[in-house]
Amino acid sequence: MLALSRFDHISMAAHNWREQRDRFQLLFGFRFLRQFNAHPGTPFEGCVTRIRNTQVEWELLEPDGPDSFVQRFLDQRGPGLHHLTVQVPDIKEAVSELERLGITPFGGISEDTMWWMAYIHPRDSGGVLWQLYQPKSVQSVNGTLGEGGVVGFNRLDHVSLASSNLEEQAVWQERVFGMEVEGRWERPDQGYKGCLMRIPNTELKFEILEPIGEEGFLQDFLTKRGKGLHHVSCEVESIDRAVEALSENGIKPPGGVEDSLWKRNIFLSPRDTNGVLFQLFEEASA
Ligand SMILES: [Fe+2]
Ligand SMILES: [Fe+2]
Repeated sequence: MLALSRFDHISMAAHNWREQRDRFQLLFGFRFLRQFNAHPGTPFEGCVTRIRNTQVEWELLEPDGPDSFVQRFLDQRGPGLHHLTVQVPDIKEAVSELERLGITPFGGISEDTMWWMAYIHPRDSGGVLWQLYQPKSVQSVNGTLGEGGVVGFNRLDHVSLASSNLEEQAVWQERVFGMEVEGRWERPDQGYKGCLMRIPNTELKFEILEPIGEEGFLQDFLTKRGKGLHHVSCEVESIDRAVEALSENGIKPPGGVEDSLWKRNIFLSPRDTNGVLFQLFEEASA
């Protein structure tokens, strides 16, 4: 398996990164960190934002021109989650380890002024574009407090992958990244089962969902979009306060509040976040 230093960021493709930054700042209190511009060879611009109480950043990519791979992504899938990025101690070792595991990183090793990088194609990973990088100099990562936006955002909990085969996918995550299964559950009433995995050296978790039977939201997702990232789950301070504040902003969670079996939670439709399905939950008060 690869040595993972940490999970670095979640990346999203957007039509307009400034609008998207403002949207996430308002909803979740994500804080703008830095902007990057398009260069020859990097046909996108965008920014990186800080997620409250979570050592993970959120990146926004906007295409620079019609030939940009980000534009192709937007044309095919619309705005939404684009890739996940992890830091490795040594990019060459990471690439040899991938090859030993039978995975050829596409495009080999590339670099910019700050990073060496390699990519695992979604067809090799069950639907996720993974970016691996080794920083050229030491980076400091700071958790921040700050405001939690409209929803009272507290922290990021997990990213979730829609899969057609949970067992195979969990083995892949373990073999390649050393993730470990922390829990499993089944919701036949909603047509799916799931498992939650720990990512080495990272608080953020990785969830895998597989449909049970022919009906349900997850089978619909797989039929329409294929295997890929499904939602991002975050803890908020209070579901009731989030629902109220969202409604003041003209946003209604589809399906309302769910509090059976798991934690009280709601979903924010991709329509209201410009492309990403968010699950918001609260920890039960003791
Ligand atoms: Fe990225
Ligand atoms: Fe989830």
